[in-house]
Amino acid sequence: MSRPTILLTRRWPAAVEAVLAERFDATFNVDDQPMTPEAIAQALQRYDGVLPTVSDKLPATVFAGGDIRTKILGNFGVGYNHIDVAAAKSQGIVVTNTPGVLTDCTADIAMLLLLSVARRAGEGERQIRAGEWQGWCPTHMIGTKVTGKTVGIIGFGRIGKAFARRCHFGFGMDVVFYNRSPVDPAEASRYGARQLPTVEDVLGASDFVSLHCPGGAENRHLMNAERLAAMKPGAFLINTARGDVVDEAALAAALKNGVIRGAGLDVYEAEPHVPETLRTLENVVLLPHLGSATEETRTAMGMKVVDNITAFFDGKEPPDRVA
Ligand code: DGY
Repeated sequence: MSRPTILLTRRWPAAVEAVLAERFDATFNVDDQPMTPEAIAQALQRYDGVLPTVSDKLPATVFAGGDIRTKILGNFGVGYNHIDVAAAKSQGIVVTNTPGVLTDCTADIAMLLLLSVARRAGEGERQIRAGEWQGWCPTHMIGTKVTGKTVGIIGFGRIGKAFARRCHFGFGMDVVFYNRSPVDPAEASRYGARQLPTVEDVLGASDFVSLHCPGGAENRHLMNAERLAAMKPGAFLINTARGDVVDEAALAAALKNGVIRGAGLDVYEAEPHVPETLRTLENVVLLPHLGSATEETRTAMGMKVVDNITAFFDGKEPPDRVA
């Protein structure tokens, strides 16, 4: 019996590619460059399964061509707002993701950004590399103490909770959060956290605000100019969720004009483009979407995709089906 044909749009950890090559008739995008929507539309006509990543864009137009052969999109990642899931579903395509396995690493990156921006780690590193450090002095590069400060979390899912635990139990911070649906207070207190009714309540109470909600239409520009102005003066914004949750132009203006004190960003509205204003400001720490970028996590993400598509092609329900 012929094996299902699958396409990986990017190169994956070698151990995962080996399993895929064993089980499927696998094609690897040897260029390892993001595929254009047109190329993905063509791939949908050729392969039984397509395995995209956040670096691919699959808008409705990709699914409009007809003659679609693909039955499953096994997304390599937990966030799937780069896929028009409704359009995929209307073509009978199943979509899966990789929840759970990247929780800790992404929460670590949020913590890293919080500490880096509070303690001016990026500025310090740049100063030393430029050969400009004059030596220790009582007033040199003074940052903000995190212990005892309040951190506000927007989105109390797996990653929001893991981040709350780090902040409260690891760094002695007070933790408040906003979540669309109510969270049992006993459950919240396991993470040292307390739910507040609105986003505005969280913004007004927090010295640090960290975003952990999904991207896409429902949260697009949730942090706009008005909400940035509603943050406490001197507060910091951390974004490891999706770039489109923040109005980047409004953020750049808020950072430049001192509306907020600093920001730590791992995600951007039009990756890999990072606006020049952000790149030139000292009070922002910028990372290139590293949330899940550890050997262990990327391998686990790949193995989740393997489990999902194996179940699907065996006629079973994929464990991480989102549509
Ligand atoms: C995720 O899993 O959503 C990461 O951001 C990488 O796509």
